[in-house]
Amino acid sequence: MATVTSSRPYHIIVFGASGFTGQFVVEEVARCAAEGPGGCLKWAVAGRSRPRLEDVLSQAAQRLSMPELRTDIEIIVADVSIEESLAMMCQQGLVVLNCVGPYRFYGEPVVKACIENGAHCIDICGEPQFLERMQLEYHSKAMDKGVYVIGSCGFDSIPADMGILYTQKQFKGTLTAVESFLTISTGPEGGSGHDATWQSAVYGFADSKSLRQLRKKFGHKPLPVVGARVKKRGSVFFSKEIEQYAIPFVGSDPSVVRRTQRFLYEEEHQSPVLYSAYVGVGGLFSVVKLLCGGLLFWFMVKFSLGRKLLTMFPSLFSFGLFTKSGPTMKQIEDTCFSIMFFGEGYSEGKDPSQGQPNAKICTQVMGAEPGYVATPATMVQAAITLLHELHSLPRRGGVYTPGAAFSKTSLIDRLNNHGVKFLVRSYP
Ligand SMILES: NC(=O)c1ccc[n+]([C@@H]2O[C@H](COP(=O)([O-])OP(=O)(O)OC[C@H]3O[C@@H](n4cnc5c(N)ncnc54)[C@H](OP(=O)(O)O)[C@@H]3O)[C@@H](O)[C@H]2O)c1
Repeated sequence: MATVTSSRPYHIIVFGASGFTGQFVVEEVARCAAEGPGGCLKWAVAGRSRPRLEDVLSQAAQRLSMPELRTDIEIIVADVSIEESLAMMCQQGLVVLNCVGPYRFYGEPVVKACIENGAHCIDICGEPQFLERMQLEYHSKAMDKGVYVIGSCGFDSIPADMGILYTQKQFKGTLTAVESFLTISTGPEGGSGHDATWQSAVYGFADSKSLRQLRKKFGHKPLPVVGARVKKRGSVFFSKEIEQYAIPFVGSDPSVVRRTQRFLYEEEHQSPVLYSAYVGVGGLFSVVKLLCGGLLFWFMVKFSLGRKLLTMFPSLFSFGLFTKSGPTMKQIEDTCFSIMFFGEGYSEGKDPSQGQPNAKICTQVMGAEPGYVATPATMVQAAITLLHELHSLPRRGGVYTPGAAFSKTSLIDRLNNHGVKFLVRSYP
C-alpha cells in the first residue's frame, strides 16, 4: 500500500461522513482498517460540522464495539463552499472518498480541490451528467497532476460495470451483447432510499437536455457494433429471465458501462459489448403503479413548482421508495440485490462478422442492500484497490469509470471477499 507521509497523514479521508451514506462508509472503513495489520490504514473523517462528525464516530464506535474510534480518528472540518478548507483537507490524504451529494450541486469543487492538491478522488455519484462533465472538463488536468478521479464507485455503477468485465473475462470467445436484469428484494417492512438520491434523480431528469448537449461536445464516433444486432425490448415487458415484468433501467449503469466499453475499445483495442440494462418491477399491479408514478414524475420535473413539490414530499411522490429519513436498520438488513447478466457472442475461432452468435453466458452479481451496505463496500474496496495497485491503473491519472480504472486490478476478488459476489450461472 502507498505510504503516507507526515505532510499527508491519511490514506483515506471520508468527506461527508455525517451524511446518511457517509455514516455507513465510516463503518466500512473502520472494519477494513481493523482487518489489516494494526494501524496499517490511516484514515480520518471530514465534513462541515465537527459535532455531527463526533456523533458519527460515537455511533460507529458503539455499533462496531470499537471504542477507540471516538478518540483515535481525526476530524477535519471542510465545507464545499470554502475553497481553502477543501484544499486543507485534500492536502492531508492520499484518497478522498466524497459522499457529499447531490453531486451536480456539490461535487465539482471537491474534484477541483483533489486535482489541485494531489489527492485521488472517489465518489458514489449516480448522475451521468456530472460524471461525464467531470471527464470532459477535468481529465487532462487530472492526468497532468497524476491524480485519479474515479466516479460512480457505489452500487451505481460498480456491480454493472465490473459485472460486464467479469462476464467478458468468463466468456470463451468474443462477447458481443449483454442484457442485465436488476432485482431488489426486501423484507416485510419494505425498503427505501434516502432523500439525497431522490433529489439527484429529480434534478437529473429535469436537466436531461443538457446531458444530450454535453455528449455532443465529446465528438465521439459511434462504437462499432460487433456481431448480430440485439432485438430491442419494449418499455414494459414480461421477462422470462427473471419471471416478472421489467422496464429499462434509467440509472447511471448504461452510461457508465458505455464509457468503459469505449475506453477499452479505444485504449486496449478490445471488442466492445453492446449493453442494455433492465430492472424487474414485479407483477401487473406494480407496473400500473409505476407507470402512473412515472408519468406524474416526468410531468412534474419539467416545472420548478413541480420539482419543489417532488423534493418536499419524496415519500408521497415516490410511493414510499424514497424518504427524508432513509431506510430503517431493519429495512436495510432485510434487503438484497441481484443483477443477472445474459450475454451472447462468438466462440473462440468463430468470426463475429459472419453469421449469428453461437455461444451464450449467464453471470450474476449479488449482494446485500444496495445503497447503504453494498455502496460503502464497493466504494471502500475501490479506494483500497487504488492504494494497493496504483501501478495497474491506466496511464498516470485522469477521470475514469470504475471499469476503465480497475479492469487490470483485483477489485472483483476484493469485492467477492467483502459481500459483493460475482458468479457464473448456468444459462437458463
Ligand atoms: N451510488 C449509489 O448507489 C449511492 C448510494 C447512496 C448514496 N449515493 C449518493 O451519495 C450522495 C449522498 O447521499 P446521502 O443520502 O448520504 O445524503 P445526505 O444524507 O444528505 O448527506 C449529504 C452529506 O453532504 C454534506 N454536505 C452538504 N452540504 C455540504 C457542504 N456545503 N460542505 C460539506 N458537506 C456538505 C452533509 O453534511 P451535514 O451532515 O453537515 O449536513 C452530509 O454529510 C447522494 O448524491 C446520493 O445520491 C449514491
